[in-house]
Amino acid sequence: MTEIKLTVQAPTLVNRDFVKPTLCGPGPCDVWPSVNEALTKPVISPICDEHFYVLDDIRAGLKYVFQTNCDTVLALSGSGHGGMETVINNLVGPGETLLVAKGGFWCERALEMAKRYGINTITTTVPMNETFSLQQLENELRKHRPTALFIVHGDSSTGTVQNLKGVGELCQRYGTLLLVDTVVSLVGVPFFMDDWKIDAVYTSTQKAFSGPAGISPVAFSDRALNKINNRTHQPPFYFDVKLLSQQWNCYGSTRVYHHTLSSPLLWALRQCLQEVIKETLPRSWARHAATTKHFLKRVEQLSLKTFVPKPEDRLMTVTTVVLPKGYDYLQFSKYMREKYNILIFPGIGQTVGKTLRIGLMGVNSTIQVADAVADAVAGTLIALKKSSL
Ligand SMILES: Cc1ncc(COP(=O)(O)O)c(C=O)c1O
Repeated sequence: MTEIKLTVQAPTLVNRDFVKPTLCGPGPCDVWPSVNEALTKPVISPICDEHFYVLDDIRAGLKYVFQTNCDTVLALSGSGHGGMETVINNLVGPGETLLVAKGGFWCERALEMAKRYGINTITTTVPMNETFSLQQLENELRKHRPTALFIVHGDSSTGTVQNLKGVGELCQRYGTLLLVDTVVSLVGVPFFMDDWKIDAVYTSTQKAFSGPAGISPVAFSDRALNKINNRTHQPPFYFDVKLLSQQWNCYGSTRVYHHTLSSPLLWALRQCLQEVIKETLPRSWARHAATTKHFLKRVEQLSLKTFVPKPEDRLMTVTTVVLPKGYDYLQFSKYMREKYNILIFPGIGQTVGKTLRIGLMGVNSTIQVADAVADAVAGTLIALKKSSL
């Protein structure tokens, strides 16, 4: 063999051992054992019957979890951010106006994305540990009559849940489309796409679904579909719902190739949906509420305060907890990992230095895990007390 001179030599890739922590941050969350198994199923071609059946099963399951009878329901290749890009860039064109309901970190992301697409952005704001009233939203809708309103249902940066009842009616009154982020709320918290008149919604598989990140369910109402079919702007090819809905056979007559979907992620999402269907949505919502309420009680017994003052604003998947004066949030989270092998997170964006973020979702939404985390928080409070004084 003639000698080939490589300009870059092969690196040594070391397999490092690590003890998997219990994932109790705001995501990702631990995966169902059945989902781990599903991830090892064979890779299949994107143009064969087996693949088409999996897509059909996933669409049926997603209609259930979104509670929608609309047809434009599918899953995108990409994490939650991909869902955010897709609902924004398919429904709002350059020069059109997006009203962003600004509370925590995720609406900042939506604003950043919208600006990159040349969309006019306006905001309405609440303090980060509160939620929007219908009155506030109506005032803004009446004043600006925007093309769309973007709002986050569950916010993992603040631990708030936005009441969405009535928001859809308001949006319809002012000719506005309603776009909702349910990345950290769906399956853990009640959500009714059709009843609440939501026009576009996205979620992710790595939170209360207890699956891996990388495939993001989205759904569009018939009003949204009408906009998609009549818009004059072109969204990015990879995220174009007009094309993706053909690949996903949303209207029953198309089996076409758009891009190669990841088979392991499709199998995993299908299995996540099977887990939810087996448990049923009402039981899943009740389990998340019971676990988080139990955890909140334990936290209160430690004389800790929750970041979100009103109980009705508290998210039942991610809890935000305020430490006594003198404790360092980053150091606290690090100690929890080192001593107890439990991963929790400090704040993000505006909540840095103000709160811990603790996720009890999906497979980890159990009284047993809640108690283990509460015990570890109690131990960490004692261990770090000296350094905090
Ligand atoms: C509410 C919310 N929206 C969007 C995202 C972004 O999702 P991803 O990291 O999967 O892209 C997250 C991630 O934590 C989130 O919590």
